[in-house]
Amino acid sequence: MKKKILILSGGISKERLISLDTGLQVAKELKKNSYSVKISEPDNNLLKNITLFKPDIIFNALHGQFGEDGYIQTILEQFKIPYTHSGVISSSIAMDKEISKKIFIKNKINTPNYLIYSYDKEDSNIVQKIEKKLKFPVVVKPINEGSSVNVYICTRNNIKKILKSMKSYKQVMIEEFIGGREIQVAIMGNKKLGAIELKPKRKFYDYQAKYNTNAKTQHIIPVDLSKKKLDIVMNMALKAHKVIGCKGVTRSDFKFFNNKFYLLEINTQPGMTKLSLVPEIAAYRGINFKQLIEWILQDASTKR
Ligand SMILES: Nc1ncnc2c1ncn2[C@@H]1O[C@H](COP(=O)(O)OP(=O)(O)O)[C@@H](O)[C@H]1O
Ligand SMILES: [Mg+2]
Repeated sequence: MKKKILILSGGISKERLISLDTGLQVAKELKKNSYSVKISEPDNNLLKNITLFKPDIIFNALHGQFGEDGYIQTILEQFKIPYTHSGVISSSIAMDKEISKKIFIKNKINTPNYLIYSYDKEDSNIVQKIEKKLKFPVVVKPINEGSSVNVYICTRNNIKKILKSMKSYKQVMIEEFIGGREIQVAIMGNKKLGAIELKPKRKFYDYQAKYNTNAKTQHIIPVDLSKKKLDIVMNMALKAHKVIGCKGVTRSDFKFFNNKFYLLEINTQPGMTKLSLVPEIAAYRGINFKQLIEWILQDASTKR
């Protein structure tokens, strides 16, 4: 009997298009390998799709809000069908850049200094506060988005304007800007899979640099770092994966500046598009896309 895989993709987050692409790549691969595949949105039809199709495993190909943040995982728990990647609590912690940062700090994982700006008590002294605690430039970002959506590098001159433009959020994070290199590390089931360096031609590794081939971001693997440095960054990623309690595959995003690594965030639902980094790191380690997807499916069946 063919194994039945329900792929969850799309959703309501700002990363919907990326998720549709991730879902499509996974579906193509599984169909080639004689799985029975159904793609579903995480919408009102989900219950019907699950009850009629009766999947053996649910492949969560969602990104961002209501896909990567524990909400959909809570719903999936109720079906008692194995689903891929991290569970309820670790997903919601990892998606919250403030809570995960507090855990990184507690566990001595270096991460940029930050402030939280709340819109319900707008702070007219924010420029002074930034100058005192962080210095300009800073990076302003949502607390729970991904794919560089609404991430801005700000100076003293444009900070107020940018903060105003992000009013639809309850709060945003303001981080010290870390220059230098952009390095990302993949963890696969408590094992260090590898690292990759990104050299965007744009101002930073923004949405276009991530997903538009015309932006010509360079992907460098192997990363030109000493074995000692590579070990440091990979151990940081593994530690982050463990202290947050993640499962399956994760990808941690770092900056490397002045000989020091800074962890920006850990992603519990890393992309699986043609330009995505985990498949590229896996391929470099001799694990092709088929093997990667099959490992993720197998891992779904183990206990959380
Ligand atoms: N503190 C920072 N200093 C320098 N660049 C940053 C900083 N924070 C984010 N960036 C840039 O923005 C990108 C996206 O930020 P990140 O925190 O990883 O959020 P997302 O969840 O949107 O990927 C990073 O890959 C990096 O290029
Ligand atoms: Mg990131």
